Amino acid sequence: MKIESLPVIEGKHNLANYEETCKSFDWKDVEKEFSWHTTGLVNMAYEAVDRHAETFRKNKVALYYKDKNRNEKYTYKDMKELSNKAANVLKGYGDIEKGDRVFIFMPRSPELYFAVLGAIKLGAIVGPLFEAFMEGAVRDRLEDSGAKVIVTTPELLERVPKDLPELKYIFLVGDGIEEDDRTIDFKKKFENADKNLKIEWVDRQDGLILHYTSGSTGKPKGVLHVHNAMIQHYQTAKWVLDLQEEDIYWCTADPGWVTGTSYGIFGPWLLGGSNVIVGGRFSPETWYSVIEEFGITVWYSAPTAFRMLMGAGNEIVKKYDLSSLRHVLSVGEPLNPEVVKWGMKVFNKRIHDTYWMTETGAQLICNFPCMPIKPGSMGKAIPGVTAAIVDDRGEELPPYRMGNLAIQKGWPAMMHTIWNNREKYESYFMPGGWYLTGDSAYMDEDGYFWFQGRVDDVIMTSGERVGPFEVESKLVEHPAVAEAGVIGKPDPVRGEIIKAFVALRDGYEATDELKEEIRQFVKKGLAAHAAPREIDFRDKLPKTRSGKIMRRVLKAWELDLPTGDLSTMED
Ligand code: PRX
Repeated sequence: MKIESLPVIEGKHNLANYEETCKSFDWKDVEKEFSWHTTGLVNMAYEAVDRHAETFRKNKVALYYKDKNRNEKYTYKDMKELSNKAANVLKGYGDIEKGDRVFIFMPRSPELYFAVLGAIKLGAIVGPLFEAFMEGAVRDRLEDSGAKVIVTTPELLERVPKDLPELKYIFLVGDGIEEDDRTIDFKKKFENADKNLKIEWVDRQDGLILHYTSGSTGKPKGVLHVHNAMIQHYQTAKWVLDLQEEDIYWCTADPGWVTGTSYGIFGPWLLGGSNVIVGGRFSPETWYSVIEEFGITVWYSAPTAFRMLMGAGNEIVKKYDLSSLRHVLSVGEPLNPEVVKWGMKVFNKRIHDTYWMTETGAQLICNFPCMPIKPGSMGKAIPGVTAAIVDDRGEELPPYRMGNLAIQKGWPAMMHTIWNNREKYESYFMPGGWYLTGDSAYMDEDGYFWFQGRVDDVIMTSGERVGPFEVESKLVEHPAVAEAGVIGKPDPVRGEIIKAFVALRDGYEATDELKEEIRQFVKKGLAAHAAPREIDFRDKLPKTRSGKIMRRVLKAWELDLPTGDLSTMED
C-alpha cells in the first residue's frame, strides 16, 4: 500500500533518532532529571515551578496570560511566590492537608493556576472542573470525591451545591465578597498571605489530580493521577512538544480537561518553558492574533479547532503574521488528512497528531518532529511505550488487522485508580498485561497506528468526551420524557454531534418547542456541550429484552446502516 507521507522536518529536535532511542531508552533514566532523584523529596509543583525559580530561569516568563480584560506575565519567581500564597490561603482558611480534594471551578485566569499549584504544594488532590458544568455535573463530582474545598467565582456559585456535608469551604475569587462561616474571600486573603511556604513532600504514588471523564455506562468516573506522572509529562514535553529553551508555547485546552493539565501546566513547566494561557471563547481572529502577538512557536490544539479555523477561510490567515510557528500539534479526535493538508498550505507546517486519553495521563502514540507523517495516522508509540492491536482474548494481531488498541502496562503517567471504584479500574486490563483503550485501530508495517473508532458508545464532540448514559439519565428526568437513547452522529466540523432519540410520555405532544425545552433542560442540568444538538421523537425505542436501549440500532437507523443481529431485541 502506498501512502503519501510528509517528510521529516529539518532542524534541531529533541528526539532526533527514534529507532535508536526505542532500543536504549529506560524511564528510570528520566528520574535523574528531577531533584527527588537526590533528595527523595517529591512534589510536582516544586519540580514545575520552584526548582526553576532557583536557577537561571528565575526571571524567565513562566506564564503569559491574556483575555479581553487582562494581559499579564509572571516569571518563575513570581509563580513560586504566588502559588505559595495560594497554598497559605488554602491551608490557613480551608484547613487543607495532604490527600484532601480541592476542586477548582472557574474560568481560566492566573488565579486558577496559582490555586492549582498551591493546592499541589500542600499535597492535596486537585479536581479541576470545566467552567461550563452546571449544577448536576458539579454535584456528581464533588459528591463522589468527597471534596473538602471548592475555589470558584461569584458567577458560578449558584451551580455549587450547598448541601454536601463534606464540602467545608467555598473560596470565592471576585470582588466585594461577603464572607460567612463557609464562604471565604480568596483575593482578600491572598493579598495578605505569606509568600513563603513549607512544601508538603509526598510519595511518587500519592494523588495529584482527579479528572472526571465519561464512559458508555454509569456516571463520570474520577481518574486519579499521581506525582509519578511527571516523568512522562517531562519526557513527552521534550520529545513530542519538542520544547526548547526559547520556545513560546500555547496549549489551547482548558485545565478542566486532561490536555489542559498534563500539557497546559505540568509538561511545559517541568521543562522550564514559557506558557501562554488565553482566557475567553474561541474565535479565528483572536486565535490568530494570539499567535502573532506572542510569537507562538509551539502550538498544541485539537481537530475541531483546526476545522473551525479551516472553515473561516484562508483570506483571514493572510491578515496575521504566523511565521513564528515552528511546531504544531493536535490531540483528542481523529485528525483528518484534509486538515493536515490545509495546515501545510496555510502555515507551511505539518500538524502532528498525538494520541492518548484521560486515563493514560500522557501521550502514547505520536508523530514526532523527526519522522515522516502519514496524514490520517496517529503516529508511532513513543519510546518506552508498547502499543499493539489485540483481539478480544488479548492476542496480538498482525499489521493491517483491525482490533483493540492496547497498551502494555507500566508507563509512568498511567492512572493510579478510579476514585471509589477499584472494580472499574480493573476492568480496563486484560490478560497479558494489556490496558484496553476502548478504541479500535490497526497498525501498518511501519508501526504507524490508524484510528478506526470507539469500541464503546462514548461520544467525542468538539474534542470533548461525553457519555451517552449521562445524557440519557438527564433526559429522562424531564417530565415529558419516557425513554431516551443517545448516540454520536458524524459531523464534518465537530467530529460528532450528540443526537437523542426520545419517546414521550402519554399526554405530551411532539413539538419543536418541546424539543428546545428538552435541549435547554440538559444544557442547564449538565453542560452546554452535553446537550443534544438533534432530537428525534419516536413512539418506541429499540430495547433488549432486559430493557437496555440498543444504541447500536439507533445508530444504524440514523446512518442508514444494517442493524446487525437483532435476536436480543424485544418485540
Ligand atoms: O477515542 C480516543 C480519542 O479521545 C479518547 C480520549 O478522550 P479523553 O479522555 O477526553 O482525552 C482526550 C485528550 C487526551 C480516545 O480514547 N482520541 C484522542 N486522541 C485521538 C483520539 N482519536 C483519534 N485520534 C487521536 N489523535
